[in-house]
Amino acid sequence: MKSNLPDKIDTLFINCHLATMTDNSLSIVENAAIAVTGKTISWVGTKKELPKNYKRICQILIDCQNGWILPGFVDCHTHLVWGGSRSNEFEMRLKGATYEEISKKGGGIFSTVKATREASRHDLFSLASKRVDALLKQGITTPEIKSGYGLNLETELKILDVVNQLNERFPLHIDATFLGAHTLPLEFADNPDGYIDLVTQTMLPKIKAQGIATAVDVFCEHIAFSLDQTRKVFQAAKSLGFKLKLHAEQLSDSNGAALAAEFNALSCDHLEYLSLSGAQKMADHNVVAVLLPGAFYFLKQKQKPPVKTFRDLNIPMAVSTDLNPGSSPVHSMTLTLNMACMLFDLTCEEALLGATINGARALGLNLSKGSIATGKDADLVIWDIETPADLCYLAGLTPISMVMIQGRIYHNDLQC
Ligand code: NIG
Ligand code: FE
Repeated sequence: MKSNLPDKIDTLFINCHLATMTDNSLSIVENAAIAVTGKTISWVGTKKELPKNYKRICQILIDCQNGWILPGFVDCHTHLVWGGSRSNEFEMRLKGATYEEISKKGGGIFSTVKATREASRHDLFSLASKRVDALLKQGITTPEIKSGYGLNLETELKILDVVNQLNERFPLHIDATFLGAHTLPLEFADNPDGYIDLVTQTMLPKIKAQGIATAVDVFCEHIAFSLDQTRKVFQAAKSLGFKLKLHAEQLSDSNGAALAAEFNALSCDHLEYLSLSGAQKMADHNVVAVLLPGAFYFLKQKQKPPVKTFRDLNIPMAVSTDLNPGSSPVHSMTLTLNMACMLFDLTCEEALLGATINGARALGLNLSKGSIATGKDADLVIWDIETPADLCYLAGLTPISMVMIQGRIYHNDLQC
Protein backbone atom coordinates (compact mmCIF):
# COMPACT_ATOMS: atom_id res chain seq x y z
CA MET A 1 0.00 0.00 0.00
CA LYS A 2 1.52 3.30 -1.09
CA SER A 3 -0.52 5.61 1.11
CA ASN A 4 -1.56 5.79 4.73
CA LEU A 5 -5.00 4.37 4.11
CA PRO A 6 -6.83 3.40 7.28
CA ASP A 7 -7.36 -0.32 8.02
CA LYS A 8 -11.12 0.08 7.92
CA ILE A 9 -12.91 2.03 5.18
CA ASP A 10 -16.70 2.21 5.07
CA THR A 11 -17.06 4.35 1.94
CA LEU A 12 -14.49 5.11 -0.73
CA PHE A 13 -15.16 7.84 -3.30
CA ILE A 14 -13.26 7.62 -6.57
CA ASN A 15 -13.25 9.46 -9.92
CA CYS A 16 -13.86 12.82 -8.33
CA HIS A 17 -12.27 16.23 -8.04
CA LEU A 18 -12.20 18.03 -4.72
CA ALA A 19 -12.41 21.60 -3.56
CA THR A 20 -11.25 20.93 -0.02
CA MET A 21 -11.51 24.54 1.30
CA THR A 22 -8.34 24.13 3.32
CA ASP A 23 -5.62 26.85 3.60
CA ASN A 24 -8.13 29.64 2.88
CA SER A 25 -8.48 28.62 -0.75
CA LEU A 26 -10.41 26.13 -2.86
CA SER A 27 -7.37 23.82 -2.57
CA ILE A 28 -8.33 21.69 -5.53
CA VAL A 29 -7.34 18.04 -5.81
CA GLU A 30 -8.03 16.56 -9.25
CA ASN A 31 -8.51 12.83 -9.87
CA ALA A 32 -8.98 12.41 -6.18
CA ALA A 33 -10.25 9.78 -3.77
CA ILE A 34 -11.70 10.12 -0.27
CA ALA A 35 -12.12 7.43 2.37
CA VAL A 36 -14.76 7.69 5.08
CA THR A 37 -14.71 5.61 8.24
CA GLY A 38 -17.64 5.91 10.60
CA LYS A 39 -18.68 9.56 10.79
CA THR A 40 -15.39 11.08 9.65
CA ILE A 41 -13.12 11.49 6.68
CA SER A 42 -10.29 9.02 7.23
CA TRP A 43 -8.14 9.69 4.16
CA VAL A 44 -7.88 12.22 1.31
CA GLY A 45 -5.60 11.69 -1.67
CA THR A 46 -5.45 10.95 -5.39
CA LYS A 47 -6.72 7.86 -7.13
CA LYS A 48 -3.16 7.02 -8.14
CA GLU A 49 -2.24 6.59 -4.49
CA LEU A 50 -4.82 3.84 -4.00
CA PRO A 51 -3.60 0.24 -3.92
CA LYS A 52 -4.55 -2.04 -6.86
CA ASN A 53 -7.07 -3.90 -4.72
CA TYR A 54 -8.92 -0.73 -3.71
CA LYS A 55 -12.29 -2.22 -4.66
CA ARG A 56 -11.91 -4.81 -1.95
CA ILE A 57 -10.77 -2.57 0.86
CA CYS A 58 -14.08 -0.75 1.38
CA GLN A 59 -17.70 -1.60 2.16
CA ILE A 60 -19.18 0.87 -0.35
CA LEU A 61 -17.39 2.16 -3.45
CA ILE A 62 -18.80 5.32 -5.02
CA ASP A 63 -17.80 6.20 -8.56
CA CYS A 64 -18.39 9.95 -8.70
CA GLN A 65 -18.28 10.01 -12.51
CA ASN A 66 -15.91 12.97 -12.54
CA GLY A 67 -18.16 15.01 -10.26
CA TRP A 68 -16.83 17.58 -7.81
CA ILE A 69 -16.95 16.95 -4.08
CA LEU A 70 -17.24 19.95 -1.79
CA PRO A 71 -17.87 20.07 1.94
CA GLY A 72 -21.57 20.38 2.71
CA PHE A 73 -22.53 24.05 2.87
CA VAL A 74 -22.68 25.71 6.28
CA ASP A 75 -25.52 28.27 6.32
CA CYS A 76 -24.45 30.23 9.39
CA HIS A 77 -27.35 32.72 9.68
CA THR A 78 -31.03 31.80 9.32
CA HIS A 79 -34.30 32.60 11.08
CA LEU A 80 -36.24 29.73 9.58
CA VAL A 81 -38.74 29.01 12.35
CA TRP A 82 -41.59 31.45 11.83
CA GLY A 83 -45.36 31.55 11.52
CA GLY A 84 -47.45 33.48 8.99
CA SER A 85 -46.31 35.17 5.81
CA ARG A 86 -45.12 38.64 4.84
CA SER A 87 -45.81 38.45 1.11
CA ASN A 88 -48.25 41.36 1.61
CA GLU A 89 -45.36 43.49 2.88
CA PHE A 90 -43.29 42.42 -0.10
CA GLU A 91 -46.02 43.84 -2.31
CA MET A 92 -46.19 47.01 -0.20
CA ARG A 93 -42.46 47.45 -0.61
CA LEU A 94 -42.77 46.99 -4.36
CA LYS A 95 -45.11 49.99 -4.25
CA GLY A 96 -42.55 52.09 -2.39
CA ALA A 97 -42.97 51.45 1.36
CA THR A 98 -39.65 50.90 3.13
CA TYR A 99 -38.69 48.11 5.55
CA GLU A 100 -38.28 50.67 8.35
CA GLU A 101 -41.66 52.34 7.64
CA ILE A 102 -43.43 48.98 7.73
CA SER A 103 -41.67 48.10 10.98
CA LYS A 104 -42.61 51.46 12.57
CA LYS A 105 -46.28 50.80 11.75
CA GLY A 106 -46.23 47.49 13.64
CA GLY A 107 -45.59 45.31 10.59
CA GLY A 108 -42.29 43.69 9.76
CA ILE A 109 -40.85 41.58 12.55
CA PHE A 110 -43.93 42.42 14.69
CA SER A 111 -46.33 40.76 12.28
CA THR A 112 -44.21 37.60 12.27
CA VAL A 113 -44.04 37.72 16.08
CA LYS A 114 -47.84 37.81 16.26
CA ALA A 115 -48.23 34.86 13.89
CA THR A 116 -45.45 32.89 15.59
CA ARG A 117 -46.97 33.42 19.04
CA GLU A 118 -50.32 32.17 17.72
CA ALA A 119 -48.89 29.12 15.90
CA SER A 120 -48.92 25.74 17.62
CA ARG A 121 -45.62 23.92 18.16
CA HIS A 122 -46.80 21.29 15.72
CA ASP A 123 -47.56 23.84 12.98
CA LEU A 124 -44.27 25.65 13.49
CA PHE A 125 -42.42 22.36 13.26
CA SER A 126 -44.13 21.36 10.05
CA LEU A 127 -43.57 24.79 8.43
CA ALA A 128 -39.92 24.81 9.46
CA SER A 129 -39.43 21.19 8.30
CA LYS A 130 -40.24 22.21 4.74
CA ARG A 131 -37.62 24.95 4.93
CA VAL A 132 -34.95 22.65 6.36
CA ASP A 133 -35.75 20.18 3.62
CA ALA A 134 -35.27 22.94 1.04
CA LEU A 135 -31.87 23.79 2.54
CA LEU A 136 -30.81 20.14 2.46
CA LYS A 137 -31.73 20.02 -1.24
CA GLN A 138 -29.31 22.96 -1.71
CA GLY A 139 -26.37 21.00 -0.32
CA ILE A 140 -26.54 22.67 3.09
CA THR A 141 -25.58 20.17 5.78
CA THR A 142 -25.07 22.58 8.72
CA PRO A 143 -27.58 25.40 9.16
CA GLU A 144 -27.78 27.75 12.10
CA ILE A 145 -31.30 28.75 13.20
CA LYS A 146 -32.08 31.77 15.39
CA SER A 147 -35.12 32.29 17.57
CA GLY A 148 -36.37 35.88 17.79
CA TYR A 149 -39.97 35.81 16.57
CA GLY A 150 -41.31 35.08 20.06
CA LEU A 151 -40.07 37.98 22.17
CA ASN A 152 -41.64 36.46 25.26
CA LEU A 153 -40.36 33.56 27.32
CA GLU A 154 -43.03 31.10 26.25
CA THR A 155 -42.65 31.65 22.50
CA GLU A 156 -38.85 31.94 22.49
CA LEU A 157 -38.73 28.55 24.27
CA LYS A 158 -41.29 27.16 21.80
CA ILE A 159 -39.13 28.23 18.84
CA LEU A 160 -35.92 26.84 20.34
CA ASP A 161 -37.72 23.58 21.15
CA VAL A 162 -38.77 23.35 17.52
CA VAL A 163 -35.15 23.98 16.45
CA ASN A 164 -34.00 21.14 18.70
CA GLN A 165 -36.76 18.88 17.39
CA LEU A 166 -35.61 19.65 13.82
CA ASN A 167 -32.07 18.75 14.83
CA GLU A 168 -33.30 15.36 16.04
CA ARG A 169 -35.54 14.71 13.04
CA PHE A 170 -33.15 15.73 10.26
CA PRO A 171 -29.69 14.34 9.57
CA LEU A 172 -28.06 17.76 9.35
CA HIS A 173 -26.36 19.42 12.29
CA ILE A 174 -28.39 22.45 13.39
CA ASP A 175 -26.84 25.11 15.62
CA ALA A 176 -29.45 26.95 17.72
CA THR A 177 -29.04 30.66 18.54
CA PHE A 178 -31.18 32.67 20.96
CA LEU A 179 -32.15 36.05 19.46
CA GLY A 180 -34.56 37.26 22.15
CA ALA A 181 -33.16 40.78 21.55
CA HIS A 182 -34.37 40.85 17.95
CA THR A 183 -36.66 43.81 18.41
CA LEU A 184 -38.56 45.45 21.26
CA PRO A 185 -41.96 43.73 21.64
CA LEU A 186 -44.93 46.11 21.44
CA GLU A 187 -45.99 45.39 25.04
CA PHE A 188 -42.62 46.81 26.21
CA ALA A 189 -42.75 49.89 23.94
CA ASP A 190 -42.62 52.21 26.97
CA ASN A 191 -40.21 50.08 28.95
CA PRO A 192 -37.26 48.96 26.81
CA ASP A 193 -35.01 48.39 29.81
CA GLY A 194 -37.71 46.15 31.30
CA TYR A 195 -37.47 43.96 28.20
CA ILE A 196 -33.67 43.81 28.43
CA ASP A 197 -34.11 42.73 32.07
CA LEU A 198 -36.51 40.01 30.95
CA VAL A 199 -34.00 38.79 28.36
CA THR A 200 -31.00 38.87 30.69
CA GLN A 201 -32.55 37.83 33.99
CA THR A 202 -35.26 35.39 32.95
CA MET A 203 -34.88 34.15 29.37
CA LEU A 204 -31.11 33.63 29.24
CA PRO A 205 -30.83 31.62 32.49
CA LYS A 206 -33.82 29.48 31.49
CA ILE A 207 -32.41 28.77 28.03
CA LYS A 208 -29.05 27.95 29.55
CA ALA A 209 -30.65 25.58 32.05
CA GLN A 210 -32.54 23.80 29.27
CA GLY A 211 -29.44 23.62 27.04
CA ILE A 212 -31.48 24.52 23.95
CA ALA A 213 -29.19 27.15 22.40
CA THR A 214 -25.43 27.47 22.11
CA ALA A 215 -25.16 31.09 20.97
CA VAL A 216 -26.79 34.45 21.66
CA ASP A 217 -27.38 37.12 19.02
CA VAL A 218 -28.69 40.72 19.26
CA PHE A 219 -30.02 43.08 16.58
CA CYS A 220 -28.08 46.30 17.28
CA GLU A 221 -29.78 49.00 15.19
CA HIS A 222 -31.83 52.16 15.63
CA ILE A 223 -35.03 50.17 14.95
CA ALA A 224 -33.98 47.49 17.44
CA PHE A 225 -31.48 47.75 20.36
CA SER A 226 -28.89 50.35 21.32
CA LEU A 227 -25.24 49.74 22.00
CA ASP A 228 -25.82 49.90 25.76
CA GLN A 229 -28.68 47.43 25.62
CA THR A 230 -26.61 45.12 23.43
CA ARG A 231 -23.75 45.32 25.95
CA LYS A 232 -26.11 44.24 28.75
CA VAL A 233 -27.28 41.19 26.80
CA PHE A 234 -23.71 40.29 25.85
CA GLN A 235 -22.52 40.60 29.45
CA ALA A 236 -25.24 38.28 30.69
CA ALA A 237 -24.79 35.82 27.82
CA LYS A 238 -21.04 35.71 28.19
CA SER A 239 -21.21 35.07 31.91
CA LEU A 240 -23.46 32.09 31.18
CA GLY A 241 -20.96 30.74 28.64
CA PHE A 242 -22.87 31.37 25.40
CA LYS A 243 -21.09 32.02 22.12
CA LEU A 244 -21.90 35.53 20.83
CA LYS A 245 -23.02 36.87 17.45
CA LEU A 246 -24.33 40.27 16.38
CA HIS A 247 -26.60 41.73 13.69
CA ALA A 248 -24.84 45.05 13.18
CA GLU A 249 -24.45 48.01 10.86
CA GLN A 250 -27.21 46.74 8.54
CA LEU A 251 -29.14 50.01 8.16
CA SER A 252 -26.78 52.47 9.88
CA ASP A 253 -23.42 52.55 11.66
CA SER A 254 -24.24 51.89 15.32
CA ASN A 255 -20.69 50.89 16.31
CA GLY A 256 -21.94 47.38 16.99
CA ALA A 257 -18.94 45.72 15.35
CA ALA A 258 -16.54 47.30 17.87
CA LEU A 259 -18.70 45.97 20.70
CA ALA A 260 -18.82 42.52 19.12
CA ALA A 261 -15.02 42.61 18.90
CA GLU A 262 -14.69 43.73 22.52
CA PHE A 263 -16.69 40.65 23.54
CA ASN A 264 -14.81 38.34 21.15
CA ALA A 265 -18.02 37.47 19.33
CA LEU A 266 -17.75 34.76 16.70
CA SER A 267 -19.28 36.93 14.00
CA CYS A 268 -20.79 40.25 13.07
CA ASP A 269 -23.47 39.97 10.42
CA HIS A 270 -24.76 42.29 7.63
CA LEU A 271 -22.18 45.13 8.01
CA GLU A 272 -23.20 47.34 5.07
CA TYR A 273 -22.50 50.49 7.15
CA LEU A 274 -19.37 49.20 8.93
CA SER A 275 -16.71 51.86 9.61
CA LEU A 276 -12.99 51.32 9.09
CA SER A 277 -12.35 51.46 12.82
CA GLY A 278 -15.07 48.85 13.40
CA ALA A 279 -13.45 46.61 10.78
CA GLN A 280 -10.04 47.05 12.40
CA LYS A 281 -11.44 45.93 15.74
CA MET A 282 -13.07 42.91 14.08
CA ALA A 283 -9.70 42.00 12.57
CA ASP A 284 -7.94 42.37 15.93
CA HIS A 285 -10.41 39.99 17.58
CA ASN A 286 -10.89 37.44 14.77
CA VAL A 287 -14.55 38.27 14.29
CA VAL A 288 -15.96 36.75 11.09
CA ALA A 289 -17.83 39.09 8.71
CA VAL A 290 -21.07 37.36 7.71
CA LEU A 291 -22.36 38.74 4.40
CA LEU A 292 -26.06 38.43 3.65
CA PRO A 293 -26.63 39.41 0.03
CA GLY A 294 -30.22 38.11 0.09
CA ALA A 295 -31.22 40.81 2.61
CA PHE A 296 -29.28 43.48 0.68
CA TYR A 297 -31.13 42.44 -2.48
CA PHE A 298 -34.60 42.17 -0.94
CA LEU A 299 -34.28 45.52 0.83
CA LYS A 300 -32.90 47.12 -2.34
CA GLN A 301 -30.01 48.49 -0.32
CA LYS A 302 -27.45 50.66 -2.04
CA GLN A 303 -24.53 50.64 0.35
CA LYS A 304 -22.43 47.49 0.04
CA PRO A 305 -20.44 45.95 2.88
CA PRO A 306 -16.74 46.96 2.70
CA VAL A 307 -15.44 43.82 1.02
CA LYS A 308 -12.12 45.41 0.04
CA THR A 309 -11.49 46.31 3.69
CA PHE A 310 -12.26 42.72 4.73
CA ARG A 311 -9.71 41.52 2.18
CA ASP A 312 -7.09 44.09 3.22
CA LEU A 313 -7.48 43.23 6.91
CA ASN A 314 -7.73 39.46 6.34
CA ILE A 315 -11.16 39.29 7.94
CA PRO A 316 -12.77 35.97 6.97
CA MET A 317 -16.00 36.50 5.01
CA ALA A 318 -18.87 34.06 5.44
CA VAL A 319 -21.87 34.03 3.10
CA SER A 320 -25.32 32.99 4.27
CA THR A 321 -28.95 32.99 3.11
CA ASP A 322 -30.34 34.87 6.17
CA LEU A 323 -33.50 32.89 5.42
CA ASN A 324 -36.32 34.84 7.10
CA PRO A 325 -39.83 36.00 6.15
CA GLY A 326 -39.06 39.73 5.93
CA SER A 327 -35.70 40.79 4.59
CA SER A 328 -34.53 37.57 2.94
CA PRO A 329 -37.04 34.85 2.06
CA VAL A 330 -34.19 33.17 0.20
CA HIS A 331 -34.06 29.37 0.43
CA SER A 332 -31.20 28.88 -2.01
CA MET A 333 -27.50 28.81 -1.22
CA THR A 334 -26.53 28.65 -4.89
CA LEU A 335 -28.57 31.79 -5.59
CA THR A 336 -26.97 33.41 -2.53
CA LEU A 337 -23.52 32.55 -3.89
CA ASN A 338 -24.44 34.19 -7.18
CA MET A 339 -25.71 37.29 -5.35
CA ALA A 340 -22.53 37.47 -3.26
CA CYS A 341 -20.55 37.62 -6.51
CA MET A 342 -22.87 39.93 -8.44
CA LEU A 343 -23.88 42.33 -5.66
CA PHE A 344 -20.83 42.32 -3.36
CA ASP A 345 -18.13 41.58 -5.97
CA LEU A 346 -16.85 38.46 -4.27
CA THR A 347 -14.81 36.07 -6.39
CA CYS A 348 -16.28 32.59 -6.80
CA GLU A 349 -13.54 31.29 -4.51
CA GLU A 350 -14.41 33.83 -1.80
CA ALA A 351 -18.12 33.06 -2.08
CA LEU A 352 -17.54 29.30 -1.84
CA LEU A 353 -15.18 29.71 1.13
CA GLY A 354 -17.91 31.88 2.65
CA ALA A 355 -20.49 29.12 2.41
CA THR A 356 -18.16 26.43 3.76
CA ILE A 357 -15.16 26.95 6.04
CA ASN A 358 -15.88 30.60 6.87
CA GLY A 359 -19.52 29.78 7.60
CA ALA A 360 -18.20 27.11 9.97
CA ARG A 361 -15.86 29.70 11.56
CA ALA A 362 -18.83 31.99 12.12
CA LEU A 363 -20.37 29.20 14.21
CA GLY A 364 -17.16 28.12 15.93
CA LEU A 365 -17.43 24.76 14.15
CA ASN A 366 -14.43 24.99 11.83
CA LEU A 367 -12.59 22.13 13.50
CA SER A 368 -15.25 19.68 12.36
CA LYS A 369 -17.25 21.33 9.54
CA GLY A 370 -16.71 23.27 6.34
CA SER A 371 -13.63 21.62 4.81
CA ILE A 372 -12.43 18.27 3.51
CA ALA A 373 -9.52 16.88 5.53
CA THR A 374 -8.70 13.78 7.53
CA GLY A 375 -10.50 13.82 10.85
CA LYS A 376 -13.25 16.23 9.74
CA ASP A 377 -16.90 15.22 9.74
CA ALA A 378 -17.79 13.36 6.55
CA ASP A 379 -20.32 15.98 5.38
CA LEU A 380 -19.82 15.77 1.63
CA VAL A 381 -21.80 16.82 -1.42
CA ILE A 382 -21.06 15.51 -4.92
CA TRP A 383 -21.94 18.04 -7.60
CA ASP A 384 -22.41 17.29 -11.30
CA ILE A 385 -20.54 20.41 -12.46
CA GLU A 386 -17.54 21.23 -14.64
CA THR A 387 -15.83 23.50 -12.12
CA PRO A 388 -16.61 24.83 -8.59
CA ALA A 389 -17.30 28.27 -10.10
CA ASP A 390 -20.44 26.73 -11.69
CA LEU A 391 -22.05 26.84 -8.24
CA CYS A 392 -21.87 30.64 -8.37
CA TYR A 393 -22.41 31.00 -12.09
CA LEU A 394 -25.40 28.72 -12.78
CA ALA A 395 -27.61 30.90 -10.60
CA GLY A 396 -29.99 28.79 -8.57
CA LEU A 397 -29.23 25.42 -10.23
CA THR A 398 -28.45 22.61 -7.78
CA PRO A 399 -27.05 19.66 -9.70
CA ILE A 400 -26.45 17.44 -6.66
CA SER A 401 -25.58 13.78 -7.28
CA MET A 402 -25.11 12.71 -3.68
CA VAL A 403 -25.24 14.02 -0.11
CA MET A 404 -23.42 12.38 2.78
CA ILE A 405 -23.78 13.65 6.34
CA GLN A 406 -21.51 12.30 9.06
CA GLY A 407 -20.72 9.23 6.97
CA ARG A 408 -24.33 8.38 6.06
CA ILE A 409 -25.72 8.78 2.56
CA TYR A 410 -29.02 10.67 2.37
CA HIS A 411 -29.38 11.32 -1.32
CA ASN A 412 -27.78 9.35 -4.11
CA ASP A 413 -28.37 9.60 -7.85
CA LEU A 414 -25.14 7.77 -8.66
CA GLN A 415 -25.07 4.09 -9.51
CA CYS A 416 -22.90 2.29 -7.00
O1 NIG B 1 -31.39 39.36 9.40
N1 NIG B 1 -31.86 42.15 10.92
C1 NIG B 1 -32.72 41.59 11.60
N2 NIG B 1 -33.29 40.43 11.37
C2 NIG B 1 -33.56 39.87 10.12
C3 NIG B 1 -34.82 40.37 9.57
C4 NIG B 1 -35.98 39.75 10.18
C5 NIG B 1 -37.32 40.12 9.61
O2 NIG B 1 -37.50 41.13 8.91
O3 NIG B 1 -38.23 39.35 9.92
C6 NIG B 1 -32.39 40.03 9.18
O4 NIG B 1 -32.43 40.80 8.21
FE1 FE C 1 -30.71 37.92 10.28
